[in-house]
This record gives sequence, structure tokens and C-alpha cells, in this order.
Amino acid sequence: MDSASLQHRTIRRFKPVKIDYRALEDAARATSTSEFLQSFTLIRITKPELRAAISKISGSLALRQDNGELFIFVVDTGRDIRLTEPGSNVHTFTNWNAFLAGAFDATLAVQNVLATAERSGMGGVVLGSILNDPQQMIDLLHLPKYTFPLLGLMVGVPETVPDQKPRLPRQLVVGEDSYPTFQADAMADYDQAISDYYTSRGSNARPETFTSLVRRHLGADQKHRDEIGAILKAQGFEMPQELK
Ligand SMILES: Cc1cc2nc3c(=O)[nH]c(=O)nc-3n(C[C@H](O)[C@H](O)[C@H](O)COP(=O)(O)O)c2cc1C
Repeated sequence: MDSASLQHRTIRRFKPVKIDYRALEDAARATSTSEFLQSFTLIRITKPELRAAISKISGSLALRQDNGELFIFVVDTGRDIRLTEPGSNVHTFTNWNAFLAGAFDATLAVQNVLATAERSGMGGVVLGSILNDPQQMIDLLHLPKYTFPLLGLMVGVPETVPDQKPRLPRQLVVGEDSYPTFQADAMADYDQAISDYYTSRGSNARPETFTSLVRRHLGADQKHRDEIGAILKAQGFEMPQELK
């Protein structure tokens, strides 16, 4: 098996080296896509002032430097809707299923770009933090109806390669034929592995376990994320009844 897929680590600092962004855009375009509808759009950010505004929304370390390419992946059923006859009922392009399909397409494209970059000696960071202010992202990028900015991705040549973060043990994540039984001892071992990782890592070392990380997430600042349902509705996506 290709061992490159087991070598992943997020890269947040990049060398001042230009990369072949068109090859990465092509990798996004070539990704597997739900119903062959290709319900996503990719926007490469080139203007420094736009990048600065997105950096402010995201707050990510990776954006507080000039290096690396920044892409925004947008759920997009609007392009397909344009192709329908005027007056058509476009429910199948605006319902929850359509939004999910666009989210699948955009997310898989992100991962395909990242994996392609990693296979070529580059690295990157997925940026969910653009959702700290989705409405501002929509305004900044002039996103039309039936679109939604889902994820950012920074890609570049790594300045340094950090240690890999250990993942949950197989028996907690992988089931056979049914949901795996929770194993407290396996989780305790994993908490220890994460504690070892965080206390010994090169930068931002701190006491941390997986359990402490999960518990801290309960109090995470949601910024504008609780507005996502209302924003999706304003963008033309129908929300499940209970979320309206
Ligand atoms: C959907 C998604 C959103 C993410 N958003 C951010 C982000 O906004 N900022 C950031 O620095 N890292 C972000 N990451 C990277 C994760 O923090 C990282 O993958 C995780 O800590 C595991 O580290 P590793 O990728 O080095 O193994 C995101 C990853 C995913 C999959």
C-alpha cells in the first residue's frame, strides 16, 4: 500500500517557494463527485488584502505569513441550477441532500488536493476556521445564491515537518459488522500517548490528553457558527423543518 497516506501531518509554515497551483486545481477537478454533478467551486486567493481579511476571520497561524497558496472550497449547486429550464422546481438542488452532496464534493476535493500535494513533497492545512464568520466569507468572495464557503486549504512547501499526531487506536475507531464496543483501557492508553506527544513536542508543548481536549471543546467559542443554519437558508438551501 502507498505509505504516503500514513505520513500525513498538518503543515502550517511554508517556505517562500512558488508551487504549481494549477496542478492542484486539476486534482480538485478530477475528484470523485456525487451524481457527477460536480457541486463545488474552488477559489484561489491571490489579493493580499483579501487574504488578510480571511486571515482575520480564520485566525490560523498558517495565514499569518505570506507563503503558501490559499484556496477556498465552496459548496455550489447554483451552477447546476443555472442549467435548469426557467420555472423548474429546483428542490433536488436546494434540499438538505443537495447541500450534503455539495459538502461531500467540496470536502473530497480538499482531501484530493492535500493528498496530491503531500505526494509531491508539499503539505498543507485544512481551514475549517473560515466558518468563524461564514457571512463575511460570502460577502468577501461575492458568493451567489446556492453556494456556501465550506473549507479553506493552505498548501505549500513545508518549512519544518512536525511530529505526527497519534490517532485513536484501531479498536476504538474500526468496527466489524457492528459498532465497536467502547474500551476504556484502550482510551486510557491513548490519553497517555497523547499526553506524551503534547509534552514532548517541539512547539507549544503543554499538558493535554485526548479526554481533556474533548472536554475543553464543550466550551469552545462558537463565534458565528450558530448562525450557519440561517445563513444556509438565506443562500437558498432548504433546512430540515426543526432547524428553520
Ligand atoms: C475539517 C477540518 C478543519 C480544520 N480546520 C483547521 C483550522 O481552521 N486551523 C488549523 O490550524 N487546523 C485545522 N485543521 C487541521 C487539524 O487541526 C489537524 O488535522 C488535526 O489537529 C490533526 O493534526 P494532523 O493533521 O497534523 O495529524 C482542520 C482539519 C480538518 C479535517
